[in-house]
Amino acid sequence: MESNNRGQWKSNFGFLMAAIGSAVGLGNIWGFPFKMGSNGGFAFLLVYIVMAALVGFTIMLGEFGLGRRTGKSSIATYRILSKRFKWLGWPGFISAFLILSFYCVLGGYCIKYVVVNVSELFGAGYGGGGAIFGELTGNMTESLVYTLIFVILNAVIVMGGISGGIERFSKVAMPALFVMLIIIIIRSVTLDGALEGVAFMFKPNFEPFRENFLGVVAKAGGQMFFSLSIGVGTMLTYGSYLRKEENLEKNCVLIVIADTIVALMAGLAVIPASFAMGGADAAMAGPGLLFITLQDVFRSMGAVGPVFGTIFYLLVVIAAVTSSISIIEIITTFYLDNAEMKGKTANRRKVTVITCVVVMALASIVAVDGMGGNGIWIPFQNSLGVIGSFNDCWIDFMDFWAEGIFMPLSAMFMCIFIGYEFGVDKFGEELELCGNRFASRGFFRICCKVIAPAAMVLIFLGQIDSIFALHIFG
Ligand code: PHE
Repeated sequence: MESNNRGQWKSNFGFLMAAIGSAVGLGNIWGFPFKMGSNGGFAFLLVYIVMAALVGFTIMLGEFGLGRRTGKSSIATYRILSKRFKWLGWPGFISAFLILSFYCVLGGYCIKYVVVNVSELFGAGYGGGGAIFGELTGNMTESLVYTLIFVILNAVIVMGGISGGIERFSKVAMPALFVMLIIIIIRSVTLDGALEGVAFMFKPNFEPFRENFLGVVAKAGGQMFFSLSIGVGTMLTYGSYLRKEENLEKNCVLIVIADTIVALMAGLAVIPASFAMGGADAAMAGPGLLFITLQDVFRSMGAVGPVFGTIFYLLVVIAAVTSSISIIEIITTFYLDNAEMKGKTANRRKVTVITCVVVMALASIVAVDGMGGNGIWIPFQNSLGVIGSFNDCWIDFMDFWAEGIFMPLSAMFMCIFIGYEFGVDKFGEELELCGNRFASRGFFRICCKVIAPAAMVLIFLGQIDSIFALHIFG
């Protein structure tokens, strides 16, 4: 009998869909295409794949193994397993709130775009992407309402529990997302002028390496670890709900591959369409790509535009929800396990609601800020010389602490913990339960002890470099 409503994944397929759902998010669909666009195209892709194989795989497997070993939340796991790294669950736990504070706002924006496109199906008439986005971010009430809708959607799923909520939703949502993405890709690459965009993505070009090798490595690495949901405790938490007979290594390989494929598919959906619309500049439009350029692409398609627009933004909402529920689950699981360890019984519904209220409170700041356009006070803005450049809006501020500081550091210390305190062989025992093999043991050992920590230092410096515009990497 499971105590404290802890529950378990019902099937390995369900777990896989939930974990891939966590990995596949705004990072893939929004971040990957524009970062690849502005950081060397093919060269970026190459580094990304190498980093995912060496570093992403190692850290994800580390999280799964630790989580399943204790069967507990990330905070409890390090408390149980380590002397020197007892605190190691906390940076991720704090990052969870920080990421959610802007993720829920962006998720809310995506819901707004679904509404815009569905309304257009009924002939409501819509303006250009720039106008829609400007109006949305400038309207505090509207931004708050859409953020709230997104948070409620998350709460409903997480309240349902691991198998009854998260697994049940992901099992339907992820295959649906895949099909929708294929429909959008077919439309995108068959637009006039789209093939130039495809060539941009896949034509070998090593020039960016010669210009700025470390810069490309740091940027691709940063994107890789956010995209794989590592360094926060998500995968550790999801691993804690997995049955002992499931093969962690195989699951991990599948998740890393699936996440990379979806990032590439998202690139194919977004980059060629943007090329067709406005050439290379449009494809490198940065953060505006998703909410401005693409909306204009759909608008230019005439009558079928809102059909594709609805499909596209709906798939982005699904991608965002399956990621944000995994972050909320870090927090929920912590409170459930904490209560259990104190001999009390916590109620998942209540814990989820309280978590979501706190998340909504934080997200409200980001929503009201409207990407810095509404004149809200922003900490450190322009007040500390060079530091002023890192946060032009609240999203940047929240993201700085999470992606810039806490996530790379906690991923690095986790490797050091497994490699030097806990021990790779003891870690391997968890992977070899129920007759499974730890085929990548030697590879894992080198990556965990040397390559991944070194890469995390580089990524950390890369984040600091780009945030503070220090130009260490050019
Ligand atoms: N991987 C998600 C994305 O690509 C974001 C995420 C980060 C989810 C960390 C969970 C934990 O958008």
